[in-house]
Amino acid sequence: MKQRPWRQSNAEQTALALPTSAHTRTVPFGAARPDLKAPVVPPAVGYPLPAVEVSLTDADLRRIAVLAHAHAGIVLTPNKKLMVQGRLQPLLRAHGCKSYGEYLNCLQEADAKQLQAFINALTTNLTAFFREGHHFPILAKHLLDPRLHHPHRVVWSAACSTGEEAYSIAMTLVESYGSFAPPVRVLATDIDTAVLKHAEQGVYPLTRLRDLSEQRLKRFFIVDEQAGSAAVRPELRSLIVFRQVNLLDAAWAMRPPIDAIFCRNVMIYFDKPTQERILSKFAPLMHPEGLLFVGHSENYTRSGDLFNSRGNTVYELSPHGKELAQRSRERWRPPPSAAGTVRPEAPARLSVTRKP
Ligand SMILES: C[S@@+](CC[C@H](N)C(=O)[O-])C[C@H]1O[C@@H](n2cnc3c(N)ncnc32)[C@H](O)[C@@H]1O
Repeated sequence: MKQRPWRQSNAEQTALALPTSAHTRTVPFGAARPDLKAPVVPPAVGYPLPAVEVSLTDADLRRIAVLAHAHAGIVLTPNKKLMVQGRLQPLLRAHGCKSYGEYLNCLQEADAKQLQAFINALTTNLTAFFREGHHFPILAKHLLDPRLHHPHRVVWSAACSTGEEAYSIAMTLVESYGSFAPPVRVLATDIDTAVLKHAEQGVYPLTRLRDLSEQRLKRFFIVDEQAGSAAVRPELRSLIVFRQVNLLDAAWAMRPPIDAIFCRNVMIYFDKPTQERILSKFAPLMHPEGLLFVGHSENYTRSGDLFNSRGNTVYELSPHGKELAQRSRERWRPPPSAAGTVRPEAPARLSVTRKP
């Protein structure tokens, strides 16, 4: 295949606070693209497919690891070789590349859309409804804390994958307040545009819902037995805003204070400096009494001085973290153009303001 830039993306701008140009310029190989935002588009088809399985060399794995780390923070160690090979093989085939080296050379000149497909292929999206179920009663109690009674209340699912986590949070809200109009909304974000699309559709095979109680299934889903799937009820769906956010981005266009952040089972793929950078960006966005929920195998008790563990993989802000949160709340101003700010509108609706 000729080495040429793939077609430029003209995809819808779903990003938060990014100039349109960030979506369309070509991507220099190896350069950090923390502003990566273009939605996924299926790779081009019609190229001849390589007949045999192509194996990945160590040198190409290293090139892939540099890209994955620069753009998504994901650390790929040599023991991930087979996984990487398997996940990228369809992209190689789709572009008719005969080796990973050839594919990477093409990627060097590709636009954001192709780089997005590469990132989407490398993310691990395992999730489930009410995963790590002990978090949800803690969230339910937390939300009723009178110290959090302020306008524009938000819970952020910061790596929502196919949406199960965000819908579990939304179900918890409805159950806590006994209403489909709770005073809190859910912001659900992920770097991977393919999983976000799935999340927004909110349709799941029944097998993924088998652990939900009959009551929840009835209240929150429309079941289609024949299709073997269930769709999230629109009343529940309307409590959530889905957006693409890369946790590596230098800034997130979100308005503090956020009542709770779910950042579960994503920072395990990052190195310690990246984890600490992200934690230091969470603190000023949170309500001083806000909570951070992390995954079962994560521990941030030694990652800076902003969070203290409450046990059960739940963290609260330390006195220093609270101070930061309080100050940033007082100082927060909408960005000058208000472009892309995720902000709740009275009486607590989330919305994204886009550039005209
Ligand atoms: C294993 S899933 C976790 C889903 C859910 N939080 C849970 O615990 O069930 C990890 C998610 O993190 C996302 N992710 C990876 N790197 C990311 C980044 N730099 N920014 C935002 N999301 C990222 C992946 O796309 C994936 O959907």
